[in-house]
Amino acid sequence: MESTNPSHPCPPAIRREEFSTSLLAWYDANHRDLPWRGATDLYAIWVSEVMLQQTRVEYVRGYYTRFLDAFPTVEDLASAHLDEILRLWEGMGYYGRAHRLHAAAREIVRTGQTPSSSEELLALPGLGPYSSRAIASIAFGEPVAAVDGNVRRVISRIFAHHGDPMKEIQALADSLLCYDRPGDFNQSMMELGSQICTPKRPQCSNCPVQSFCRAWLEGSPGAYPLSKKKDALPHYDVAVGVLRDSSGKIFIQQRPAKGLLGGLWELPGGKAMSGESGKQTCRRELHEELGVKVVVGDLIAEVKHAYSHFKITLRAYTCTITDGEPVSTAGLKSRWVDPHQLHQFAFPRANRRILDLLTLSTQESDSS
Ligand code: ADE
Repeated sequence: MESTNPSHPCPPAIRREEFSTSLLAWYDANHRDLPWRGATDLYAIWVSEVMLQQTRVEYVRGYYTRFLDAFPTVEDLASAHLDEILRLWEGMGYYGRAHRLHAAAREIVRTGQTPSSSEELLALPGLGPYSSRAIASIAFGEPVAAVDGNVRRVISRIFAHHGDPMKEIQALADSLLCYDRPGDFNQSMMELGSQICTPKRPQCSNCPVQSFCRAWLEGSPGAYPLSKKKDALPHYDVAVGVLRDSSGKIFIQQRPAKGLLGGLWELPGGKAMSGESGKQTCRRELHEELGVKVVVGDLIAEVKHAYSHFKITLRAYTCTITDGEPVSTAGLKSRWVDPHQLHQFAFPRANRRILDLLTLSTQESDSS
């Protein structure tokens, strides 16, 4: 029997129980076999939801499995070194998630208190209302609706709802929630949003809840939600230098723990000032960052990369030191690393692409 929740009455036109029956029957028959589906352990569910916060399901699969193999329990994660965690996270982006997951694991182990509700999860670093509800519904069967971007779109179409305030969307999602299977209900809404009720060209004819959908009845599912025009991302030119010592080792430094790409390693360099060429940027940055004078040689590679809020064109140049020893003027950690050992460090994606090219050319000259 379905429980009722008087604070979230389902609008008369949509019967909560009929909606859930159709949706869950479809989910049971069609859901993708994902490595975290079927997990009952809070830690495993929590890791999956943190990885899924900003990253597509198909991309997360491999990362999730490798991560849980390396850190099977919250105690393993808490005692791991952040560098090791970042290395496994490399390529997934939004590295703040890895820092916060680590901090939360340490807090749980330190206090000895494992959260047991969405409220308690919300108090942990890195978990907002969506993730804490998703985790609590799956791990504890807590009856809370989790609304991410996919679910928001589904709800706005089902109810032909143009308003944006999250409170309204959350209330509508709560009004449909299945109290018997809240975790499966939430995952079925996510699955529906990613597989059927897609932003463009939704497959309404395959939709298990088509008959409940007001946007479909109106003949305009694609019109929901109202899309806001996104501003174009700013673009920056960045130049980095490849410094080698007499044994061919490459100079790298570690970014500060806090801030963008915190704790990752990188080649020294930075953003171009207006009117500067790549070589000029490289020379100036290496002087400012490392206190060395360099002659900037050939352009080794040019890589374009888009972050969440800006895009870059990264150019890497061979550099030869003519004066000084490189020491970070900002007190950052730095190392000379054998090209074959570079895989042991976590790098931002654009840096890794440059280093892969360098390693490749080193391997070619090793074997010739
Ligand atoms: N996106 C966020 N959480 C998810 C989950 N548990 N399954 C599929 N997609 C998701």
